[in-house]
Parts: sequence; C-alpha cells; structure tokens
Amino acid sequence: MPLDVIVLAAGQGKRMRSVLPKVLHPLGGRPLLAHVLDSARALRARKTIVVHGHGADAVRAAFADSGVEWVLQGEQLGTGHAVQQALSHLDGDGNVLILYGDVPLVRLANLERLVQAAGQGVALMTAELDDPRGYGRIVRNGTGNVERIVEEKDATAEERSVREINAGLMALGAQRLSGWLAEIGNRNAQKEYYLTDVVTLAVKDGVAVNAVKVSDATEVAGVNSRRELAALERTYQRRQAEQLLDAGVTLADPARIDVRGMLECGAEVSIDVNCVFEGRVSLGDRVRIAPNCVLRNVTIGADSEVHAFSHLEDSEIGMRCRVGPYARLRPGSSLADEVHIGNFVEVKASRLGVASKANHLSYIGDAELGARVNVGAGTITCNYDGAAKHRTVIEDDCFIGSDATLVAPVRIARGSYIGAGSTINKDTPAGQLTVARARQVSIPGWKPPKKKS
Ligand code: UD1
Ligand code: CA
Repeated sequence: MPLDVIVLAAGQGKRMRSVLPKVLHPLGGRPLLAHVLDSARALRARKTIVVHGHGADAVRAAFADSGVEWVLQGEQLGTGHAVQQALSHLDGDGNVLILYGDVPLVRLANLERLVQAAGQGVALMTAELDDPRGYGRIVRNGTGNVERIVEEKDATAEERSVREINAGLMALGAQRLSGWLAEIGNRNAQKEYYLTDVVTLAVKDGVAVNAVKVSDATEVAGVNSRRELAALERTYQRRQAEQLLDAGVTLADPARIDVRGMLECGAEVSIDVNCVFEGRVSLGDRVRIAPNCVLRNVTIGADSEVHAFSHLEDSEIGMRCRVGPYARLRPGSSLADEVHIGNFVEVKASRLGVASKANHLSYIGDAELGARVNVGAGTITCNYDGAAKHRTVIEDDCFIGSDATLVAPVRIARGSYIGAGSTINKDTPAGQLTVARARQVSIPGWKPPKKKS
C-alpha cells in the first residue's frame, strides 16, 4: 500500500518568542523540520507534502532541494484545516501519515507501527504522561476502545484527569480522510477545525480506531517554547551518546558531548568531555579526542590524537597525527600522515606533507609544505599583501628556524635551512642555509644611560 506523508508546519510558534519560524529552530544543529523529513524519507513515503504558512519563504528556502511538495496555509484555522489544504496533492489511494513539524523525535520503529496499525482503520499515536497538561486527551469507552479525542480547552474536569494523550500523529486511508475532513466543523473552544474530530467520525462510521501507545514519552514531546526545545536537545544528545556507546566508542561522560550533525567513528575511538561535533565528522580507528575540542566537517585518520582545546574546521587529518593542544585548523587544511601541529598554531588552506611539524606559535596560511619539514616556533607565512593572498611553498626536508617570516609568494627549495629570525622574500636555493637578518654587534665600552638626580 503506498504511503504519503503530510507534515503540518504552518504554525507560528508564538511562545518561542523568535522571528525564526518554529520549524527552523535547530535541534542537534539541524532544523526541527529536517528531522521530521528524515522520518518521511526513512519510511519511503511516495510523496511528502509540507503544509507551511508562518515564515513561508524562509521555510521553503531552507528546504529548497528536499523534493517535498509545498502547500500554503494562509490562515491557520486548525490542524484539520491544515490537512485539508494538502488533500488535492493526494492521489486518493493508499495511506496517509500525518506528522507535525515540531514533533521531531518519534522513533522510526514506532512510526512503522503506526502505519501498520492504520491497515483497516485509523491509527493514533498516544502516550501516558505524568503531566498531560496542554495535550488532547484520549477518551475511551467502557470496553476500552477509543471513542474520541478531547482538547484540553474543551475538556471537562474528569476528561482532564486522563493521562493518555494524543501525540498528534495519525495514519489512515486517504479516501476516508478526505471524506471525514469535509464533515468537520469548528464549533469548539478555539473556533478551529480539529483534525482530532476525524476520530469521532470514524467511530460513528464503525471504523476501527487503534491507539499505538509509545512507552518513552520523550518521543512524542513537541516544541512550543525554548524551554521545551532545550529539553528536547538534551534528549536528542543523550540518544546520540547512547548510539556511540553502543557502537563501541568511549565517552568520558555521555552527558558532555554534543553532536550537531553526523559523527562517524571507527573502532576504539575515545572522546573526552565537552567536545562539539558539527557537520560531518569522521574519526578513524583508535582516534583520541581530548577535552574541549570543536570539530566541524573534519576527517581524521587512524591513530591520530587531538589534544585539548583544539578547533578544527573543514580539514583533513591523516593517520598518526598529533594536533593541539590549542591548535586551530581553518578551512582547507590538509595534514598528511604523522604531521604534528602544536599549541597556538593556526593553519589555513594549506597542505602539510608526511611527518612535517609546526609545534609552537605559528601561522601557516595558503602554504604547501612537503614531507619532513620542521617549522620553528613563531614562524609565520606572510600570505597577504593588503590586497591579495599569495602562496608559500616549502619543499621536502626544509628546516625553518624560529621566528622566520616567509613573505609570499616565495619558494623554499628542498633541504633549505632558514636562520632564525630571518625575513625571507626571495626564493631560496636547495640544501643551503639562508640567513636574512641584521648582523649581531656588541659595542665595547657601552654604558647604560644614567637617571638625572
Ligand atoms: C494538537 C492536537 C492535540 C495534541 C497536540 C500534540 C488538534 C486539534 N490537537 O494540539 O490533540 O495533543 O497537537 O502536540 O489537532 N498547524 C498548522 N496549521 C494550523 C494549526 C496547526 O500547520 O492551522 C501545525 C502546527 O504548526 C504544529 C501542529 O500543526 O506543527 C500542531 O499544532 P498546535 O497548534 O501545536 O496543536 P495543539 O493545540 O498543540
Ligand atoms: Ca503543540
């Protein structure tokens, strides 16, 4: 049976107190809606239709390449009205799964259960909450069958005491859905067209209503405020940490890691506290990450170590490298195997060959270093002349003395030695010592100045 997904995402999210449309607020570094669309994709939905309204342009722009179909709900007249706007996009056959753009953490297995349960009728996702406030309540009859859903604002005191809530997610046949939606009115406390009223109509038509109850209440939690978003972020991060632990990664503290994107780990990887992973990060076998590192779009080869307080972005690191503490790799940096980058070294748009080292206080920008180059403390590539950037090339086996300034464009030929403190603005010959600094002199008989009394 084909499955189409309708995602409701037109609401404003007033309680977020934000100019950003609610479904664009990030969870784990990605918009809420992205997580919901992931679910639709994982379910192999034939079509995914997103009902949007508030911040429509921004929402569409954020998902321009997602392949979803967009439906504009100009005025938000309720969840039933929202679904109605999407009906013309359905082909009339198959099942429809309705998801909320602001309920991002439902597990795939439970969504599959929900779709299964729609087989012969209507399936609802429900949960037992200690504090059901704000949610629609599931009203069951004497024999325990679902009879209807009552919104909190329309509920009697007795109905409010029910702890089983409507998560909002629903699966049912497309044909029946459109029939029932046509019958829904808005005579209720909020003057809204409630999607939940299809339950009453299903019961009236003798169609089975199946409640799929989930045991983990965090799955059905929606985001209405920043507090709720922050709570969901912790839930999401705990899940990520548990997945890493289950995959054999050592985490010094599963409560102190943040994965805002995709983190892929080889065998025996170990990650210390307070590390943040953004975008796509891939860590090879036995990679060790020390405390307080930020890695964004980075690939690291096997047996490399990143020491504390390092910040690595859009870079590639080979095998058996040592980076940090306090190192910064900016976009376009590529370290071959066995490279060492030490404290307070900044690398930008540069390649370092096998076993090259820059261990202390350097800036290496727009540079190409061969193999086994040693960059002394304080050495700087002067890549910018105030108007344009230029490249520095340092060939294999060069030794750059401390505090050298290499004024680009410049080429340091194979096996060059550069005397400490030199300012080099001309290419150097291979295998020679080049020194470019004032000669040291000492003045005999020199006396320090005296203060006047
Ligand atoms: C809804 C359910 C309630 C359930 C709760 C779960 C109804 C009538 N009530 O209530 O039973 O417990 O969700 O979170 O369905 N939306 C639109 N267009 C609209 C109205 C809403 O796109 O006109 C979207 C919102 O952006 C949101 C979702 O639908 O993503 C739910 O809307 P919301 O107003 O939060 O519904 P609740 O009142 O919380
Ligand atoms: Ca809500």
